Amino acid sequence: MAAKIAFILGAGPNIGQHVAKKFAANGYKVAVCSRSGVTTSDDYLGIKADFTDPLTVTSAFKQVRESWGDPSVVVYNAAALHFAPANDAFSIPATAFQEDINVNVSSLYTAIQETVKGWKNLKSSSKTFIVTGNVLNVAGAMPAMITLGVGKAAAAHLIDGAVKSYGSQGYKFYYADERNPSGAPVGSSPDAKAHSEVYFQLAEDPEQRPWDYTFVKFKGFTKF
Ligand SMILES: NC(=O)c1ccc[n+]([C@@H]2O[C@H](COP(=O)([O-])OP(=O)(O)OC[C@H]3O[C@@H](n4cnc5c(N)ncnc54)[C@H](OP(=O)(O)O)[C@@H]3O)[C@@H](O)[C@H]2O)c1
Repeated sequence: MAAKIAFILGAGPNIGQHVAKKFAANGYKVAVCSRSGVTTSDDYLGIKADFTDPLTVTSAFKQVRESWGDPSVVVYNAAALHFAPANDAFSIPATAFQEDINVNVSSLYTAIQETVKGWKNLKSSSKTFIVTGNVLNVAGAMPAMITLGVGKAAAAHLIDGAVKSYGSQGYKFYYADERNPSGAPVGSSPDAKAHSEVYFQLAEDPEQRPWDYTFVKFKGFTKF
């Protein structure tokens, strides 16, 4: 049987590389993608792309497909944020807003589209798409982070839509959001190991769990 393939878009030193390591240790071929294209293992396929242009997502998938085949597990981990003054959220240039929305939403849309296209050709394997989220889809607006908030709210909406559209085919989609045990956001220090454990569990489970997957380190899924 051909090796399963995991593709991580937005793979940097924290969550991305830990997720890559976890899947590689469990027999997956791993492709990682970022603007630098840097990999931490010669075994990984490293791809350069800048998600401010959603077309680069299409060509990144093409590279994985032509090198190895279609990935059964896809993780979208990139995010973009131009901070705004909290008392003047609409002062950032429209071009900056557009850039962030391309990374947070449009390229995610393209990644889901390419993933589903590939899954139609995959016979077996548990097919799982995970976007790394945060609390902003449910927390209400934080004006300084308006582009990230719009992005995460839209990302959750896309995942909900994907589950409703393709869930009956056994395709699984998640908006994963690590929280502190109190339910508060983990801030700027997400736990990469906890993400890698949770993402691997979600990929291995043949059943769709709650798509808005809030989890706590050492505890797992927790409904807040
Ligand atoms: N649950 C929470 O409360 C919480 C807290 C913090 C963060 N997060 C989420 O965690 C994710 C990031 O985690 P992390 O920083 O630990 O991950 P990471 O894997 O260490 O880094 C993400 C990588 O994405 C790449 N990237 C950024 N912009 C890109 C672009 N335009 N095109 C292509 N690649 C791009 C960057 O690499 P290059 O520079 O090489 O492109 C970056 O290193 C985000 O989705 C963020 O919103 C959640």
